[in-house]
This record gives sequence, C-alpha cells and structure tokens, in this order.
Amino acid sequence: MEKITSLAKRRGFVFQSSEIYGGQNGAWDYGPMGVELKNRIAAAWWKEMTQLHDDIVGLDAAILMHPRTWEASGHVENFTDPLVDCKKCKARFRADQIPPENLAAKKCPECGGELTDTRKFNLMFKTHIGPAEDSASIIYLRPETAQGIYVNYKNIIQSNRMKIPFGIAQIGKAFRNEIVTKNFIFRTCEFEQMEMQFFVKPGTDEEWFNEWRKRRWAYYEKLGVKMDHLRWHQHGPDELAHYAKDAYDIEYLFPMGWRELEGVHNRTNYDLNRHTQYSGKDMQYIDQDNNNERYIPYIIETSAGLTRNLLMILCDAYDEEQVASEKNSGGSEGSADDWRTVLRFHPSLAPVTVAVLPLMKKDGLAEMAQDIRKELKEDFATDYDQGGAIGRRYRRQDEAGTPFCVTVDYQSKEDHTVTLRFRDSMEQARVPIAELAARLRQEIKSYKRIK
Ligand code: GAP
Repeated sequence: MEKITSLAKRRGFVFQSSEIYGGQNGAWDYGPMGVELKNRIAAAWWKEMTQLHDDIVGLDAAILMHPRTWEASGHVENFTDPLVDCKKCKARFRADQIPPENLAAKKCPECGGELTDTRKFNLMFKTHIGPAEDSASIIYLRPETAQGIYVNYKNIIQSNRMKIPFGIAQIGKAFRNEIVTKNFIFRTCEFEQMEMQFFVKPGTDEEWFNEWRKRRWAYYEKLGVKMDHLRWHQHGPDELAHYAKDAYDIEYLFPMGWRELEGVHNRTNYDLNRHTQYSGKDMQYIDQDNNNERYIPYIIETSAGLTRNLLMILCDAYDEEQVASEKNSGGSEGSADDWRTVLRFHPSLAPVTVAVLPLMKKDGLAEMAQDIRKELKEDFATDYDQGGAIGRRYRRQDEAGTPFCVTVDYQSKEDHTVTLRFRDSMEQARVPIAELAARLRQEIKSYKRIK
C-alpha cells in the first residue's frame, strides 16, 4: 500500500486533503490523474448500469435531505459503530475491530492502558441549516445515496412511465464519521458511491437478487480486474444491516487483505414501508397491466464505493516488472536489465489513452508530433512529452498507466507512419498516421489484459 500511496501522490492521482495544514483525516483530494481515473470509473459504471439496461434510469438527488428521511431509514437509530477509548493513550477504536480478549479485559491493544465501556457512536455528520443552531435546524450529510432514490421513486414512475421491474442509478458523495480511517482512501469520511436500486415485485426478489449478483460479478470481469482477487462474502446474521434480508459483498484482495468492495443487498420493502409510515404518502406501486394490483415493491440494491473502486483499480493495475532496457530505448539508455513500474489500467479507464512523443525536438519532429496530437485530441485523452531519452519517456507513461505511445521519428517524415508502442507487451508496430485513430479505437475495443 505504501508504494501505491507514494505513486498516487508522485503522479498526481491522490493528495492528502489540506496537506499544508498537516492534513485532514478521512478526506483526500484527487489530482489531475486521479480525477480523470475517477471520472472514467464512474462513466464505465454509469454506462453499464444505464445505457446497457433499458429498464434503468439515472438520478442525481441532493446531499441534504429532510431530516425525517434519516429517522424513516433507521439511520438515526441504527447507524452506529461501537466505540471504545483508551483512558491512558487516548487512542480510539471500533470495539469490533480490536482483539476480543482486549475488549473483555478492557485493555488497550496499543499501550495496555484501561479502555472505557463500549458506547454507540452514530456515524452521520450532523450540521445546522439556516442561522439558528437549535434542534429544529438539524440536518445530516447523507450517509448513503440510496435514500435519495427511494424518496423519488414515485416521481420517476410518473415522469418516465417506468414499470416494475425497473432500476434507478445514482453516483454521488456520501459522508460517514468513521472512527478509524486508515489504508489510504479505503475508508474515508467523505467518499463517493455508485448505487443502483432495482424495484421488483415481492416474491421475485430472490431471483433478482441472484441475477444482480451475477451481473455485478461479470462487470468486474469486463473491466479486466484480476478475478482471482475477487470473492463473495455472504453476511451472517450478526453482520446484516437493519434493512437487509440477505446481503453479499464482493471482496477484493487489497494489499491489507480481503476487504469489501461492493455490496449486493436484498432490502425487502423495508425502506418504502418506513417512508410510507414517516411521510404519510402512499408508496405503493399500481400495476396497471395487472388489474391495478397494488404493492410496496421489494428493492435489490447494488452499492459500490467509487473511491474504493479507484483504490481497487490502482492496486489491481500496479505491477513492477524486470525488462530489457534496449527494447524501449533503442539501446541508448540503461543497462541490459531494467525495472519498470507499470499501471495496467484497462484503456477505457486510463487517465491518458495515448501519449505522443517526438524522438527529437528538432528537425520538425516536434511540430509533426504536435499536429498528430491535435488530431487525436478530439477522440482520445492525450499527453505530449518531448523531454529526455525515449526509453525514459516510455517509463513515465508506463507508470501513469498510458496504454499507447505514439513515437514520431525521421521515418515518419518520409513515409507518414509512426511507431505505436503498447504498454503491456512493450511491443511496437508501424502504423500509417492516417490509420492511427481507427487502430487505437480497435485496440481499445479488443483489449485483453495479458498480465
Ligand atoms: N446503501 C447501502 C450502503 O451504503 P454499505 O455497505 O454501507 O452499503 C456500500 O456501503 C459501499 O460504499 C461499500 O461497499 C464501499 O465500497 C463504500 N463505502 C462505504 N463506506 C465507505 C467509506 N467510509 N469510505 C469509502 N467507501 C465506503
């Protein structure tokens, strides 16, 4: 994880929030490469969940919701973690994350000092809306995006004539006052979720639950994630959230071990029943194709962290590899053996798709390379680099995860071809400039991860 954290900072993926003030715990900033990667992960998910499904539409609900929402959802009452403090060293722990023997003996796992009794700590951030800081003005930062979907489900049925079964997808910020924030961006207080709520007829929920488990698993396969680094974990009775009948996590083998990446939950009709009760509004679905049958739908939820997906993609893509240097440097640089750090992003996720590199700055090569970049810009995320030996420039692009480099050399001036260099295999092909864009499109489409 240290290597990934340091690369993320060095290459402008992720910075510590408010670093010049010593950093803000639980918050991170996404740099030029990070924001591109995050946007592409979000776009891949959005395409998968909306464009490829006729029965799923999107939503972007507000972060601030009526406070009754969170009473109805059960978060005011139940969204708590068990907290203990060390009276001696003042360290703070989640009681369920320290060794049970320490908890039983009330002994701090760090300094051996005495621990306080376990108390419940609500994870929702509370603030006030308007100028008065009284109990009537309390408002919460949403701890999940899901509730914005539930309170809008009838609006969407009416405005978009949706029929059950159908889904609503949303990407947005969520906030949790996490007691322990470690492992880089894995668990943070401010993060983003990609959630889809699928509304189904009661009785068909188990079938749809299994179907969505299959679809979400296939999605990661399509993204080229190492499938032996993914596994399912079914929630036991003591792990199930207050709303869930059944829940499975997709876990990823992060550097610190197997951890939750995404959850697929059967939330039953819990949320819509509670919103009916708390709002007094009828949340029933009226099935006009079936004698106006009325029921409160069951909800199958797929809930993935966007920022946690970004960490997974970084870990999954990270590789260090011993390579023969002359393959990339034309023999002009390095010893016989060399190491490279490479991020093997799927080309559709890579922050830069293609880097254009003139072999030399002089003799019109730089101008030619700039012209090629200009052409490619309309369709691809590009970079341009003319500084240093070509082998070193390839290494820089490898480390940023750029899947393709285009090198403009003296031959380019004669026959209007360039070298197309592939990040993963480091192989090179000579391609006519006129065919470059089409070739890149085809390479992206047919990409298969080789390592
Ligand atoms: N609506 C259901 C829900 O929020 P969850 O299991 O609490 O379920 C879903 O969260 C996903 O959101 C997790 O699998 C994880 O990817 C992400 N997530 C949750 N808490 C997070 C945090 N503190 N920091 C980063 N990501 C988080």
